[in-house]
Amino acid sequence: MNKTVVVLGTQWGDEGKGKIVDLLTEEAIAVVRYQGGHNAGHTLIIDGEKTVLHLVPSGILRDDVTCYIGNGVVIEPAALIKEIEQLSAAGVDVRSRLVISHAAPVIMPYHILLDQLREAKRGKKAIGTTGRGIGPAYEDKVARRGIRMGDLADAETLRHKLQEVLAYHNHVIEHYHAHEPLDLEQVYQQLLQQAEQLLPMCDDVTGCLHTHLQKSEKILLEGAQGSLLDIDHGTYPFVTSSNTTAGSAASGSGLGVTQMDYVLGITKAYTTRVGSGPFPTELFDDDGALLAERGVEFGATTGRPRRCGWLDLVALKRSIQVNGVTGLCITKLDVLDAFAEIKVCVDYGDAQFPVTASQWETVKPSYQSFKGWQSSTRGLTDANGLPAEAKTFIEFVENYTKVPVHIISTGPDRQENIVIQHPMG
Ligand code: IMP
Repeated sequence: MNKTVVVLGTQWGDEGKGKIVDLLTEEAIAVVRYQGGHNAGHTLIIDGEKTVLHLVPSGILRDDVTCYIGNGVVIEPAALIKEIEQLSAAGVDVRSRLVISHAAPVIMPYHILLDQLREAKRGKKAIGTTGRGIGPAYEDKVARRGIRMGDLADAETLRHKLQEVLAYHNHVIEHYHAHEPLDLEQVYQQLLQQAEQLLPMCDDVTGCLHTHLQKSEKILLEGAQGSLLDIDHGTYPFVTSSNTTAGSAASGSGLGVTQMDYVLGITKAYTTRVGSGPFPTELFDDDGALLAERGVEFGATTGRPRRCGWLDLVALKRSIQVNGVTGLCITKLDVLDAFAEIKVCVDYGDAQFPVTASQWETVKPSYQSFKGWQSSTRGLTDANGLPAEAKTFIEFVENYTKVPVHIISTGPDRQENIVIQHPMG
């Protein structure tokens, strides 16, 4: 029986992880976020009601589940407080069920400002970040000058740290970006107020997780973004600033790599991407527009329209390798219901998987074509009910990737899934 399950995206994010985490949480005691920040947007629809989560793990909507924000997550205090308040107003008790790592880095106002100033300066070469300060916050962590959640407990030391780091960033803000510097006192006072609200929820997350393991309790680790946005394995430099691949589930939580029992790789039945960067199977025609319309492809965090294209099995296979994926979950199968012809990319026309930006630019995708089923799969919960053409499509994915499809999502609601094999046993 699998006790520790990692759920992650195998594409460029927005694969529908939140919904699947919520589904699997039925079996779990704890749900952990381990990387990324409020750049993520996890949409859950329960009985037709929509909730978008950014920092709070998707397990929060189940009463008996404890939610953890691990050391690998970057936390913007105002965003987290707002999310907690919104959930509380909707009757979800967050404060008694959310535990935040002392070691998680804080996203500060200068990180957000720097993210936005840099993107503006890049002009046409902009990465298309979410503008939430994610990159600059991770830079400060790696540069060993970051402020962590635990630092908020000691007001005096915090002031000294902030003074030093702000002097450093203000220099760049003022002299490189020609923007007004940030005021130390203002940043400090705001942080103290936020600390008052968040510190009661801070604890040793790693210790808590190992206690769950000792009691043989099931833990779900919830990835954010997707593998092709990984800082090392993604389409660099058009990536996010964290490792979105499975190794982060260990480093970003404090669990050991040998303690992960199962990795569920989520893939849409097609592909989307927000922001700039390579996308070999992108469609600019009516098929792309139909995918966007049927899939309601707008970013949950920024509202930006998502770029759409066919499923890319070459990229999926690579993601399966770098994550050690055990089983696949195909989401949004029903979006393909309307298509007379469905394509999947099976080859890049090159012996090597692209790594550099220029290699990505020269990719020439070739496709395998499938007859569409042109009937509704919406809401199906039994694999036997799938049209023959849809079964052929899914079997092709399994044969190509050599990984079984364990879950198929057939609609946005919590109930709309075909569970072939439950990752938690
Ligand atoms: P950042 O993470 O805000 O630095 O943005 C870097 C890249 O990652 C941009 O292309 C964003 O659109 C993308 N990105 C960040 N978070 C998500 C997400 O949750 N879903 C999809 N794309 C994301």
